[in-house]
Amino acid sequence: MKILIVDDESISRQILIKKMGLIGECTAVEDSLKAIELFDKAVKNKKPFNLITLDVSMPKMDGKQLLNLIRKKEKAMKITKKNRVKIIMITSRMNMSTIKECIKLGCDGYISKPVNKYQLLENLGRMGFTQPANIEKDDKKTHTQIVARIIKLFYKGKINLPVLPRIVTEVQQLMESRDPAIEDLAKIVKKDIVIGSKLISIANSPLYRGVDKADNLNAALLRLGMEAAYGLISTLVTKDLFKSDNKVLNSLLEKLWMHSFACACLAKRIAEELGTRNTETVFLMGIVHDIGKMLLMKAFVDIEPNETFENMDLIIAIHEIHTTFGAAVLKKMRFSEEFIRIAEFHHWNDFSKDDEKELLIIHLSDHLAKVIGFGFFDFEDSEDKEKSDSKESLKNLESLKQLNLDPDKAMEIADEIKAIIRDSAQTF
Ligand SMILES: [Fe+2]
Ligand SMILES: [Fe+2]
Repeated sequence: MKILIVDDESISRQILIKKMGLIGECTAVEDSLKAIELFDKAVKNKKPFNLITLDVSMPKMDGKQLLNLIRKKEKAMKITKKNRVKIIMITSRMNMSTIKECIKLGCDGYISKPVNKYQLLENLGRMGFTQPANIEKDDKKTHTQIVARIIKLFYKGKINLPVLPRIVTEVQQLMESRDPAIEDLAKIVKKDIVIGSKLISIANSPLYRGVDKADNLNAALLRLGMEAAYGLISTLVTKDLFKSDNKVLNSLLEKLWMHSFACACLAKRIAEELGTRNTETVFLMGIVHDIGKMLLMKAFVDIEPNETFENMDLIIAIHEIHTTFGAAVLKKMRFSEEFIRIAEFHHWNDFSKDDEKELLIIHLSDHLAKVIGFGFFDFEDSEDKEKSDSKESLKNLESLKQLNLDPDKAMEIADEIKAIIRDSAQTF
């Protein structure tokens, strides 16, 4: 396999050569003009490159322009999409608008600097390249290898993905019909006693409480409204996925559920504060934003049932790839584009005005959840510990800025939600 590395920084080039050298023959150049020369020559000699990594920011011609040029040349040469060279963009900042543009221009993947082996493995797996068995020399049957195997199985479609039960599709169909009525919704929900009774307790929980008690399903559905009921049914069903027969995994999944639930409650409350229309959708987005972590941990335990998840390397691996995984999972579960983007981009931090409000809200809520003690991985918590004491950290949060929300108000919401999370979580 022939690989071309284009990066103006010598250190980055060396790191990439070291990592990519394990899977193919690398050539590295420091600017786009040299790259295009090599690209043309390789095509002419009928020995084209299989993979190119492009640094986004370079002098003269940047990575984006080079990507565009290569795709144009391929088009002119009538090279099909399937046969064109695979291109991975390397970015030093998690700049989302740039990446979105690159995806439009036809890149096949992206990695943020410093280049991480798991992101690299994930990209190679997705593109269908064979992964290096020894991405690190001293790795024998280690976490890295198991992660690499999971990636491979996943992209070959050999990992079972969660299936949503019939009630969700039935409610979904009803919601899409012309005149969805509460009575019809009640008819569907009545078939599932557990969900029905849970909806009644949720309608009476601090999240939705009204003046008097809603003591039957119809009253509960009336209080919640169609939209909320739909979101809550999906949430209840999703909660079942956060369970496992493996004890260690089960307690981790419970923690992940609390994190997701906290994030969902915060997101809903922030959406209300901002006057966003679809507060219930935002709630569900909070519930599923980390679904990739859930699936990765489950897949890991299937291969290694005695795993304790204390190995830092494994935790980092899960963290590094859970976003792209989560996006792929939601796509297969037929969630909408907005949900998929939330899973994929919720850890980015370089937002702009053009980014969807929902994404900004989930990003902020994810941060606030950690601040009020509902982080998931401990390193995420500790990362924020010093910062979280001051509102200063919040002020610097790009999502908060773009939402135009006052940091004091955000902290006030966080405290308010903190008080009701444990109680409300019990009702789910
Ligand atoms: Fe996450
Ligand atoms: Fe999260």
